[in-house]
Amino acid sequence: MDAIECILTRRSCRKYLDKAVEEDVLNKVLECARYAPSGKNTQNWHFIVISNKEVLDRISLEISKVDKRPNYSVTYGAPVLIIVTGKKDSSLSVYDGSCALENIFLGAHALGLSTCWIHQLTYTEVVENVSLYEYLYQLGLPRDEKVIGCSALGYAFEESKTTLPRKENTVIYVK
Ligand SMILES: Cc1cc2nc3c(=O)[nH]c(=O)nc-3n(C[C@H](O)[C@H](O)[C@H](O)COP(=O)(O)O)c2cc1C
Repeated sequence: MDAIECILTRRSCRKYLDKAVEEDVLNKVLECARYAPSGKNTQNWHFIVISNKEVLDRISLEISKVDKRPNYSVTYGAPVLIIVTGKKDSSLSVYDGSCALENIFLGAHALGLSTCWIHQLTYTEVVENVSLYEYLYQLGLPRDEKVIGCSALGYAFEESKTTLPRKENTVIYVK
């Protein structure tokens, strides 16, 4: 798949197979993340890769306590959650983390995997859930960093063949 095809055919996936992601494939996706651009090339990010089901279940439970969703799975059932973090005090960290997330999405898609941006860990009321954030610190989140966004990662239960329509008239040409 070439880069243009990869960009144009990537879709968010919200239903996954119960199938583990191979270590070499996962590492390649993370390499894509690490090669994303960052402001002044600071690379002030971490990628917390969670493939332990008990840990995923605990995070889902903590989120569902505040987000009030029964039987909630933070990954839509995908076996891996990648949490992208950035410095709390940097105005660039959201941009940097978003670039890294897009690299994760595209790299994963090129390797036959599917992804979805998971935003729940950045909702204010979820961020204020002390027990969840203490748990994330225990898992390795540096105390001076915050969650920028997350990606579910796994093999799609069924791949969506259709591309969601994109708005027209969003390009402003100045000639
Ligand atoms: C900043 C951001 C936050 C998002 N948060 C979520 C989310 O929490 N859950 C979800 O299912 N999709 C989330 N998405 C995915 C969008 O819904 C999706 O990209 C959009 O509907 C277009 O569909 P596509 O990715 O299949 O092209 C998010 C996307 C972005 C860029």
